[in-house]
Amino acid sequence: MATYKQAAGFDFDESTEHSVLSVQHLIAKEPLSSIPQQFVRPNQEPQSTFSNAETGSLPTVPTIDMKQLLSDEASADIELEKLHSACKEWGLFQLVNHGVSTSLLDKFKHEIEEFFQLPLEEKAKYRKTGDLEGYGCDQIITKDKKLDWGDRLYMTTNPLNSRKSHIIPELPYSFRNTLESYIVELQKLAVKVLDFLGRRLKMEKREMGELFEDGRQSVRITYYPPCPQPELVMGITPHTDGTGITILNQVNGVNGLELKKDGIWIPVNVLSNALIVNLGDIIEIMSNGMYKSVEHRAIVNTEKERISVAMFISPHLDAEIGPVTSLTSPQNPPIFKTIGMEKYVKNFFTYNHEGRSHLEYMRL
Ligand code: OGA
Ligand code: NI
Repeated sequence: MATYKQAAGFDFDESTEHSVLSVQHLIAKEPLSSIPQQFVRPNQEPQSTFSNAETGSLPTVPTIDMKQLLSDEASADIELEKLHSACKEWGLFQLVNHGVSTSLLDKFKHEIEEFFQLPLEEKAKYRKTGDLEGYGCDQIITKDKKLDWGDRLYMTTNPLNSRKSHIIPELPYSFRNTLESYIVELQKLAVKVLDFLGRRLKMEKREMGELFEDGRQSVRITYYPPCPQPELVMGITPHTDGTGITILNQVNGVNGLELKKDGIWIPVNVLSNALIVNLGDIIEIMSNGMYKSVEHRAIVNTEKERISVAMFISPHLDAEIGPVTSLTSPQNPPIFKTIGMEKYVKNFFTYNHEGRSHLEYMRL
């Protein structure tokens, strides 16, 4: 058997024994006889055992219909109430009739699959250079320093001047083009969703729009290879997103996302033609705790690789992050601090690297 070092692509001057550039390539060369220690987590919380369709007790993630929300009929109000309770109780929903064209989604899927099929040497051009951006397997948000079972391509997409010169501009032409269209379409969709949230929260008209206009946006494309012992590893460690909202596209229709509700891990089944919207810490803070930033994770399986794209939507860097003025009152005083977005982002990455919840840091 090839040594673990060779298989993991150590030709690319990996700095320590513990870093792996790509799990995909690690397992592609030869079947692993055992899972390398840096991926093994002995004490994982299992998926909920009562989440068994037969018992009928499986709580189902709410589905929101954008077409209904946008309609002129009375059904729009009913849908808005459904959205409101999804945001309060779940912090996550499946969004159907979202308006992003199937042809764009299909093209994007194809481009992503082609990207991950490139030789490791090609992908290594986009590797992370000291920060979180770029290609590679890493741990991003864990206290135990275990590696997640997945390869990521993570990049800031807006503001344009914060894009890294070795990533998007260097991507294969057709992938880059499709990615640019996806970025535009998902930003438009996010603005629509945020507008409904603001409306139902009864924020003053422009408060939401102003914060998110030309906002910070980043994207994480993840390739989760199949794993011979999935119960020992984690695709992505439990976390909340530091965003306003995140729109997750389960590109190749393979399940794996789970959310924590009332202390129990619940699977989010892929619904074809749906995108998943999950609320991040910023919306919980802005809504002064009314809406929930949901804790989630991704598990892997023995059979099939899973590909996801998470689009992270946040306010612009000059924004102030805190409970929105029109949503607080002497009866409902702010329960979170207010800080500038630039500082918020800096703190977020510091806290998460230390395995502490950033939301707790923001709590007054
Ligand atoms: C993320 C995330 C989930 C998934 O990238 O923040 O939660 O299913 N991804 O890939
Ligand atoms: Ni996430």
